[in-house]
Amino acid sequence: MSEKTITLTNNSDGRTVDLPLYKGTIGPEVMDIGKLYSGMGIFTYDPGFIATGSCRSSITYIDGDKGNLWYRGYPIEQLAERAKFLEVAYLLLYGELPSLDQLSEFERIIRYHSMINETLKNFFDGFHFNAHPMAVMVGVVGSLSAFYHDSLDINNPRHREISAHRMIAKMPTIAAASYKHNVGEPFIYPRNDLDYCANFLHMMFATPCEEYVPDPLAVKAVNLLFILHADHEQNASTSTVRLAGSSQANPFACLASGIASLWGPAHGGANEAVLDMLREIGDVSNVDKYIAKAKDKNDPFRLMGFGHRVYKNHDPRATIIRKVCHEILESMADTDNPMFELALRLEEVALEDEYFVERKLYPNVDFYSGIIYRALNIPNSMFTVMFAIARTVGWMAHWMEMMSDPQQRIGRPRQIYTGHDRRDYVGIERR
Ligand code: SDX
Repeated sequence: MSEKTITLTNNSDGRTVDLPLYKGTIGPEVMDIGKLYSGMGIFTYDPGFIATGSCRSSITYIDGDKGNLWYRGYPIEQLAERAKFLEVAYLLLYGELPSLDQLSEFERIIRYHSMINETLKNFFDGFHFNAHPMAVMVGVVGSLSAFYHDSLDINNPRHREISAHRMIAKMPTIAAASYKHNVGEPFIYPRNDLDYCANFLHMMFATPCEEYVPDPLAVKAVNLLFILHADHEQNASTSTVRLAGSSQANPFACLASGIASLWGPAHGGANEAVLDMLREIGDVSNVDKYIAKAKDKNDPFRLMGFGHRVYKNHDPRATIIRKVCHEILESMADTDNPMFELALRLEEVALEDEYFVERKLYPNVDFYSGIIYRALNIPNSMFTVMFAIARTVGWMAHWMEMMSDPQQRIGRPRQIYTGHDRRDYVGIERR
């Protein structure tokens, strides 16, 4: 790290402190504020962490102004165009694209771990049939730590790696089981003759009554969407996994905390909220009315799938997904899909409106993904589960990176206290 420093002066008492400035491979410099409290007796304050770096990471780089997203240095556009999802998973976990042999071995390992313990299936019966699949995912994934005592030494790199493999392998199985529980159909076991994405679709839609062969175009679409959702730097759910992991909690509990955070409509839950919003808008004739609602500070309505903390230019993932939407809808669904037409019109109107332009609110990864999921007959309630399957790779990559960092410490932010000053207890007879 560089020896450059920045000197801060407190104008109220003249105290100064020199803070180190660090420069990563690319991106803004960061100021190390570790000595700020000891040197000046003050904390920093940055609710929502707008301008705060929480860690060093070499996994994903985002440039929000240029609309760049790189996994281990590879642009998302190239990976989306040419890679298989497990190839990208290997890249995110290990830092390099795999050779043919490395990928074959990795695919074998993931296939080997794709079944879940038979007794885990009893968990699903504890949920009412119409429980939201994300609630099931949080509960079932959190319970996995009860099954894997043998590989829960989080200080052992090999045990950490096995946990990562297990989670990447089992998420599609657990996700498909949560869907089958929802629709009252028997669970379908994973099959070792299918690749990761085809296997997931088979577990989702096959039944014991007849052969089910996943549509190759659907497999290609799922492969693309999983790649696009695999990682995204220090987003809310990844930061949740890192914070949970910083207390040395087991990886399954950390992952369950990430799934819970992702569920929120401000984050991964937005893809489901977009379809609910499009259904509420109903017709292009209502677009202007809803754009006005989104701009009205007195109206809680927001344009779901629009805006991003980091991207102040197009989200490159939205650009890719919009293009694939056309291809999928033309080949798989009714080409005049009213939802897609409505989404295109909504984007067109919003991007001409000063409110959205001024605030640099563009469609994000969630705006179009649900339309593709619908075309694949994946129900709205499973959209965020799809996001969670893919993001499990990013969550485990960041957890492994954090746990192997010798400087890793428990995360424990401070605050600005706005409550009462010290005061004495008053007996109830005098209150
Ligand atoms: C994901 O972090 C990641 O990387 C996330 C993600 C990933 O891959 O992990 O990319 C995935 O979560 C994408 C985001 C999905 N969420 C949504 O689509 C929900 C709708 N979007 C908003 O809730 C919002 O844009 C956020 C949460 C995405 C970003 O919130 P910020 O950065 O805190 O921005 P903000 O709320 O401070 O908004 C700034 C201004 C405000 O207006 P003013 O106070 O300046 O007048 O923009 C307005 C907001 O009211 N605004 C919107 C809006 N988003 C922001 N107004 C209407 N509709 C919107 N969608």
